Amino acid sequence: MQIIREVDALRRAVAALRGARGNGGGTIALVPTMGALHGGHVALLREGKRAADHLVASIFVNPKQFGPNEDLGLYPRREAADAEMLEREGCAILWAPEAGTMYPENYATSISVSGVSEGLDGAARPGHFAGVATVVTKLFNQVQPDVALFGEKDYQQLAVIRRLAADLDLGVRIIGVPTQRDVDGLAFSSRNAHLSKEERLAARALPRALVEAAQAIRDGGDVDAALAQARQTLAAAGFGAIDYVELCDPETLRPIRVPNGPARLLAAAKLGKTRLIDNLVVDR
Ligand code: PAJ
Repeated sequence: MQIIREVDALRRAVAALRGARGNGGGTIALVPTMGALHGGHVALLREGKRAADHLVASIFVNPKQFGPNEDLGLYPRREAADAEMLEREGCAILWAPEAGTMYPENYATSISVSGVSEGLDGAARPGHFAGVATVVTKLFNQVQPDVALFGEKDYQQLAVIRRLAADLDLGVRIIGVPTQRDVDGLAFSSRNAHLSKEERLAARALPRALVEAAQAIRDGGDVDAALAQARQTLAAAGFGAIDYVELCDPETLRPIRVPNGPARLLAAAKLGKTRLIDNLVVDR
């Protein structure tokens, strides 16, 4: 696996991969990450190997998607261990630019996706999705992959990226990968590393609250009552600020009060200093 930090070198390496499989050239799958890799990332990598001839992963802790009071400085960084894992998963290139390479002095462009970016995490974290859309557009332009993989764990992010890729004719097929969970149901997340032992136990209430609410809604229960019960479950388990527990249209993410088609149940809440998010499909 090549570890590459400059755009010119990346372009040469990607061109070599494209030429490396017959006359048609090999196809390329990109898995964008911020590192501190876990089972969720591994699922994306394995799906990427199935979807294309060559796998490229990126690790870049993107300052533009963190708010001024968020955990940019504390975000876990362990590139050496990550590189070993990527190598084991058959990755051909690790694209790991420095912040100054991604955003040189005088950098001035931002991509924002309206509508689907605005509620939920978009409301709780102003500017977050513009930061994500900007870096993902750059990563797509840098690597020029055929397909790119994103997790349903960050469901709104996936919806924003699908909208972005379609609206700007980016020519990259977006594949969503189901959320990977630990044995007790908690979704894998790089931020789980910040949880104390007690918090890690309490965190199980997040998937549990969603499973229970999804079941109640599926059984025909009142949506507001199910959402209120989920909030109560979270508060009782020790979650502090609850940013949202909401039932939404799976594509536009507009809130739904009476589900009569597919819907997605999404929640974000803080346990101590750590903000956790999760979501579930609700089919009725
Ligand atoms: P990061 O949090 O590192 O996640 C990278 C990818 O892994 C995202 O597509 C995310 O949805 C997926 N992922 C994380 N946990 C998962 C889980 N438990 N199951 C399945 N997939 C999971 O998301 C980002 O980085 C950044 O916003 C990025 C897209 C790289 C842009 O900076």
